[in-house]
Amino acid sequence: MDMMDQASSLRSMINRNRTIDELTQVEKKAEHYIKIYSVVSGKGGVGKTNFSINMAIKFQQMGKRVLLLDADLGMCNANIMLGMETKLSLIDLIQGRATLDQIITKGPSGIHLISGGADLLSLKAIEDIRQQEIVDAMSQIMDYDILIIDIGAGITKYSLTFIQLSHEVIIITTPEPTAITDAYRIVKAIAVYKLKEQVKVVVNQIHDLSQGEEAFQKLFKTSSQFLHMKLQSIGFIFYDTRVRKSIMEQIPVVLKYPNGLASQNIKQICENILEDKEYSYKVSNFKQLSNKLLRIFG
Ligand SMILES: Nc1ncnc2c1ncn2[C@@H]1O[C@H](COP(=O)(O)OP(=O)(O)OP(=O)(O)O)[C@@H](O)[C@H]1O
Ligand SMILES: [Mg+2]
Repeated sequence: MDMMDQASSLRSMINRNRTIDELTQVEKKAEHYIKIYSVVSGKGGVGKTNFSINMAIKFQQMGKRVLLLDADLGMCNANIMLGMETKLSLIDLIQGRATLDQIITKGPSGIHLISGGADLLSLKAIEDIRQQEIVDAMSQIMDYDILIIDIGAGITKYSLTFIQLSHEVIIITTPEPTAITDAYRIVKAIAVYKLKEQVKVVVNQIHDLSQGEEAFQKLFKTSSQFLHMKLQSIGFIFYDTRVRKSIMEQIPVVLKYPNGLASQNIKQICENILEDKEYSYKVSNFKQLSNKLLRIFG
């Protein structure tokens, strides 16, 4: 190899390296990780919304940038619990009246909220929502580390879609047999449609730890025996009268009574969740997910 050849191959090596470097930069930008948690329950009124808003605030306090989506279209009330006024909603986005930026409202501790839309019109709109549009809207959200979706109770095509879109599903139940039975139905739907291989469980409103353990074990055993679904307990929340008080005052309990029992439980759950580093997904996986959804629901 003569000098000229050496020089040109060196140059091409440098150029190639630079190109690889640049590519890495581009990749780094594209690889923004957003973790999506959906909070669901079978039975209504078990404490999903209270958990979602307080989890959002706790995560934000832990240095994460959090967006909370109140996706309970029929009866969304996260804004009320947060003491916030939201003018535009997810419905406005879906029906093309507003952009994603416009429907995001700043809330306590720096969390951001998207409200579902809370009138009768919205109920009809549930039928009109094209899954693809929600998927696309979600895919645009790049400014956050965590997206929490508070889904209404029950099993519908709409709620299963959000479950499918999330990286992690958190099922909230109380120790009541009726709540556990309904929670099992959600697990069953997730298993039958193969939406997730694993779900997380929080038992709320417990009066002692053994009550929480027992409720989880019931759900765990039936799910693994009949559905081959592995449930993961991520913590318990005690029944705490401060929760009710904080809702009355429209100040989230973790802010109003940070050292109260329920607040400490929620903090612990957030820590448990963040320590679970096994699951990490890229935003780009959304397209694959949405294709799977289309196959399931058409
Ligand atoms: N840990 C707790 N201790 C005491 N009360 C609680 C606790 N968690 C929730 N509650 C009570 O349960 C009520 C329902 O809570 P929340 O609205 O969060 O439930 P939900 O599952 O979101 O209901 P829905 O299905 O109607 O959306 C609250 O008004 C609150 O008083
Ligand atoms: Mg709710």
